[in-house]
Amino acid sequence: MRIAFFSARPFDRDVFLATHASRGMDRHDLHFFDTRLTEATAALAAGCEGVCVFVNDQVGAGVLTALAAGGTRLIALRSAGFNHVDLEAAVGLGLTVSRVPAYSPYAVAEHTLALILTLNRKTHKAYARVREGNFSLDGLTGFDLHGTTAGVVGTGTIGRCVIRALIGFGCHVVCHDLEPHPDARALGARYVALDELFASSAIVTLHVPLTPDTRHMIDAAAIAQMPRGVMIINTGRGALIDTRAAIDGLKRGHIGYLGLDVYEEEEGLFFDDHSASVIQDDVFARLLTFPNVLVTGHQAFLTRDALQGIASTTFDNIEAFAAGRRSGNELTPA
Ligand code: NAI
Repeated sequence: MRIAFFSARPFDRDVFLATHASRGMDRHDLHFFDTRLTEATAALAAGCEGVCVFVNDQVGAGVLTALAAGGTRLIALRSAGFNHVDLEAAVGLGLTVSRVPAYSPYAVAEHTLALILTLNRKTHKAYARVREGNFSLDGLTGFDLHGTTAGVVGTGTIGRCVIRALIGFGCHVVCHDLEPHPDARALGARYVALDELFASSAIVTLHVPLTPDTRHMIDAAAIAQMPRGVMIINTGRGALIDTRAAIDGLKRGHIGYLGLDVYEEEEGLFFDDHSASVIQDDVFARLLTFPNVLVTGHQAFLTRDALQGIASTTFDNIEAFAAGRRSGNELTPA
């Protein structure tokens, strides 16, 4: 099968080529494009039966129509999240859409802990200070995670890994999910209503998918319920948080720490080097001015193990499609 990979960075290319070679799959013809998939770039996939995309590629009705007209039959997502895909349009065009439902939940969970620990103990500031010969400890005071109440929103694959880590640090963990999971309880977490989670947690961390129900679940009203000085962490999807409400909470000191791996307007910003240009997004630029905000550019998934898992499952999905089988990872409209 001829397959076009969009948003393909060197680390994607390396792991997909290595996985392809290790499986002896010489019948696939892989084409890697650094560019994002948009209506303007869809023509690059002409003649490719498979198109492999990542989280900030545009997979709306217009792009899908162009791909289908060019001979595409399979859209293979290299991600778990699929909020960027118009599944209704895909079905209407006879396209199969597959995803990688789970690769390394540890990668995202561990990055979540990295954000919590960095914001709390300010290691990013300490690193810069020490390299400047500044050994002052002023402003570096943190708090013990041990004994702190942490609220985990979404107790799916990643949320449960986060719970395990937080319990390991000695946190009291409360959690919330539409579908409570027995493993979360077995780990020692307590399910509560979302209002109670917001009111009782010094740390709130988000691990739900982006859906119409979860969009802006952290808004001004939710922030008002949280204790002053709360730490909010988002490694889920950017639009789970109303960024303008978060900025207001930061300005008033109500939010004490904000750790983001995702941002609601990250498309066109993240994954590229903009260091020589002026950031045009004033909301994002304002976020970067706060000393208690830490932003990483959607890298929570980025471990060697996760990349291998993504490549492996993506090829499973492609092989199943090529053989006329179902992989079980196909997506249908809800
Ligand atoms: P999952 O599907 O295993 O768990 C999601 C949980 O959210 C489920 O238990 C579900 O019942 C719950 N949920 C859904 N809607 C809800 C609602 N309205 N209220 C309460 N709970 C709700 O997904 P997984 O693998 O744990 O991933 C979670 C999210 O993390 C993904 O949807 C994705 O957006 C994000 N993610 C981010 C990555 C990154 O690099 N930053 C990488 C991978 C995933």
